[in-house]
Amino acid sequence: MRIRPMTRDDLDDVLEIENASFPMGWLPEMFIAEMEGPISTAVVAVEDGKVKAYSIYRVVVDEAHLMNLATHPGARGRGIGRKLLDYSMSDCASQGGAFMFLEVRETNTVAQNLYLSAGFRPMGRRKGYYQDNGEDAIVMEARLRRRTWAAGHAPPGRPRP
Ligand SMILES: CC(C)(COP(=O)(O)OP(=O)(O)OC[C@H]1O[C@@H](n2cnc3c(N)ncnc32)[C@H](O)[C@@H]1OP(=O)(O)O)[C@@H](O)C(=O)NCCC(=O)NCCS
Repeated sequence: MRIRPMTRDDLDDVLEIENASFPMGWLPEMFIAEMEGPISTAVVAVEDGKVKAYSIYRVVVDEAHLMNLATHPGARGRGIGRKLLDYSMSDCASQGGAFMFLEVRETNTVAQNLYLSAGFRPMGRRKGYYQDNGEDAIVMEARLRRRTWAAGHAPPGRPRP
């Protein structure tokens, strides 16, 4: 499995995963804005030429925010989400992030387990955050640790058009 910057060529694969994963999925232009804009980083995990998962995050000063993370339903439970989350956290740390935040649905225990196992802790709640069903978001926070990348595995940096 290889992790690399997301490009427009990945959009079909990414949208298939997005629409299978979320009731109110992002639109294509939202992915394009994040992958080509100056603030965010968008990466994909690729196996056998297919995108299996993606992650989108941004760092502002020392604060990182995980904005989107999903694994293809057919590839879940194989450690791909965890690898991509670890990668995202390390990349945020190397971009200067000291803390990372995210919102997760109160009922999404699978994702919460993933985040807990990666060192996130619940630190708040946003009432009625999700517009489709009025569900609360749990806000989770992790302290980021800088990591030294092995040769040949350096973070790809921000994707450029
Ligand atoms: C959450 C998600 C990204 C996890 O991706 P994944 O590739 O299946 O995750 P992994 O195989 O790396 O599993 C990592 C951890 O997640 C948790 N997890 C994974 N599948 C689980 C399941 N069926 N039940 C409970 N916990 C589960 C476990 O803590 C697991 O760690 P472990 O294997 O050491 O027990 C994936 O389920 C997904 O895309 N869900 C829909 C989109 C979503 O909810 N994104 C998060 C938005 S906040």
